Amino acid sequence: MFSPFFRRFLFFVLSSKILEALYAEESPAMHHPNHLQDVFVKEEYHFLNVPGIGTITVYDTFDCTFECLSNPSCLSLNLAAAKGADRQLWCELLTSNKDINPDEFKENKTSHHFALKGRFRPTSCVEHGQQGAYKDGIYKIYDNDGNSFPAYCDLKSEPGIAWTLVMSWSKKNRCISAFRSTPFHVNAPENENSPNGDRYRLSLERMRSLQVHSTHWRATCSYPTHGIDFTDYLRGNFKDFNIVDFLGNDECKKVEYVDIRGLNGTNLTAPFWANFELGLHTDSSIDFCELNATVGAVSSEDNFGFYNDINPKFRCTQADNSTTQWWFGAHLKK
Ligand SMILES: *[C@@H]1O[C@H](CO)[C@@H](O)[C@H](O)[C@H]1NC(C)=O
Ligand SMILES: *[C@@H]1O[C@H](CO)[C@@H](O)[C@H](O)[C@H]1NC(C)=O
Ligand SMILES: *[C@@H]1O[C@H](CO)[C@@H](O)[C@H](O)[C@H]1NC(C)=O
Ligand SMILES: *[C@@H]1O[C@H](CO)[C@@H](O)[C@H](O)[C@H]1NC(C)=O
Ligand SMILES: *[C@@H]1O[C@H](CO)[C@@H](O)[C@H](O)[C@H]1NC(C)=O
Repeated sequence: MFSPFFRRFLFFVLSSKILEALYAEESPAMHHPNHLQDVFVKEEYHFLNVPGIGTITVYDTFDCTFECLSNPSCLSLNLAAAKGADRQLWCELLTSNKDINPDEFKENKTSHHFALKGRFRPTSCVEHGQQGAYKDGIYKIYDNDGNSFPAYCDLKSEPGIAWTLVMSWSKKNRCISAFRSTPFHVNAPENENSPNGDRYRLSLERMRSLQVHSTHWRATCSYPTHGIDFTDYLRGNFKDFNIVDFLGNDECKKVEYVDIRGLNGTNLTAPFWANFELGLHTDSSIDFCELNATVGAVSSEDNFGFYNDINPKFRCTQADNSTTQWWFGAHLKK
């Protein structure tokens, strides 16, 4: 193996190279860094409880961080806070970090945690799922400009697919223009930094960035209380129907699955509207596309948006606290 001196030299070279690559565009005048804190964020007395690549014993912090830098799948590490009887430290290399698994990051008397800066920049919930995150909740993601924001991820409801929430509102907020009358391609953020069920819509920039990393979209009703049971549910793919750029009236568009009040179908067309007076929605009182959900519909019944004419039998518009969600997502790679 390398001598301790040579390892430190390599660490210096490696860390300089990584930082050069990371900051090349941001600060061309930056001096070459040679300090650990330029490459790793140290969290004293913390432990990230996720499966690791492996545990090794080392003589000091440099050896452990060096091993992480040399392993392309290492994102962070746990390192013993105190030396053992053999005067060595255990060092655990991890393929995840606390941004990916925030719930597993805890204070701990026996361990320090080090996270490698800049190696993992998830751009949607799909990458979190890909890295092994499996709990639903709020995760940090990055837009195309490299700015981070908190997003709600549904990683459980449809195994193998990860969904990022892009918009959610309650029936009592249905008259707010961002929900009633604004198509997706118009910027109309609502509480974009605090995902919630009642009044939430991402900025157009964030939606566009998510769209790049998504193949599918879906709409759900009262997800916080009902979860996903495919009743009052709509899913399509961007290739057949690009909902972000769609403007039109009464157009038959292909969807993968739709259920309205228990009437459902797979791979069929349904009528859609989106313009500067009507937010994206379908109308189940109309049967000129392939979907026929007219039985039990009210006149001009609006589904999954707009909500001028509403049916209390449709879960999105049952009560004032009923909610509608729109999500972008993609399958996880095997
Ligand atoms: C603290 O870290 C040790 C490893 O040093 C781990 O085995 C233990 O489960 C951690 N305790 C808590 C409460 O996270
Ligand atoms: C789909 O429709 C059938 C009847 O055609 C019904 O039995 C079934 O429950 C519906 N599925 C859902 C998820 O509501
Ligand atoms: C619907 O279409 C998709 C993609 O074309 C296909 O994979 C799926 O099997 C189809 N489902 C049904 C029930 O026809
Ligand atoms: C839709 O279903 C209703 C009730 O079954 C029926 O009366 C109507 O003709 C159907 N529409 C089409 C276009 O098939
Ligand atoms: C709405 O509020 C009622 C009464 O508090 C509650 O029972 C119901 O589950 C809520 N519904 C939704 C969709 O949150």
